Amino acid sequence: MTVISSADAKASPLAFLKAFLRNPKSIGAVAPSGRVLAGLMARGLGAGQTVLELGGGTGTLTRGLARAGVTGERLNVIEMNPDFIQSLRAQFPGARIHDHSAFEIDTLPDDVRDLDAVISGLPLVNMSGDNHRAIMRGSFARLKPGGYYRQFTYKPRCPISQDVLDAFGLKATYEGMALRNIPPAFVYRIERAA
Ligand SMILES: C[S@@+](CC[C@H](N)C(=O)[O-])C[C@H]1O[C@@H](n2cnc3c(N)ncnc32)[C@H](O)[C@@H]1O
Repeated sequence: MTVISSADAKASPLAFLKAFLRNPKSIGAVAPSGRVLAGLMARGLGAGQTVLELGGGTGTLTRGLARAGVTGERLNVIEMNPDFIQSLRAQFPGARIHDHSAFEIDTLPDDVRDLDAVISGLPLVNMSGDNHRAIMRGSFARLKPGGYYRQFTYKPRCPISQDVLDAFGLKATYEGMALRNIPPAFVYRIERAA
């Protein structure tokens, strides 16, 4: 008989769908990201690099980062949903899972810094311009020079407006798409323009 642990249950697609039905705006998707998208989001990252993931959910992108070699205390994840936090802590015991809002990156512990990348599955299209500014400000204050922010979205355009990018001296580049994903997703990289 297969025993399903509560962490497995909370990481299941069904748990994700239930969370979406309870709070569609905050969850922003009916299903967790697939493995192809997780691979795109982790591209170029690996052992020895420090990453902050925003909106870890049931951990599909987190697993992609771990598969790429980002592990232990170098793997930071922000999440707000209590069931997802519990599941992430059970699945990634060595990682730093922060029960925290992505709008308040500035109040994370001081040693979450010199990041190589911020990886985001946040539903930015459901968030305000002020929220976008808070996420950009907090992320780029914690990224090291040359570090970048990577975001997936379900529309074929960067979800951060040109005005917000310009306000922080940033530029966005399209990196690729994951067709085998529900729904298909587009990946953008945001970095300092100069
Ligand atoms: C589209 S889901 C992505 C989940 C997972 N990364 C994936 O790709 O399958 C968005 C996640 O962001 C989380 N979230 C939404 N708003 C947040 C906020 N302000 N701070 C932290 N997490 C947030 C939700 O709880 C949810 O887990």
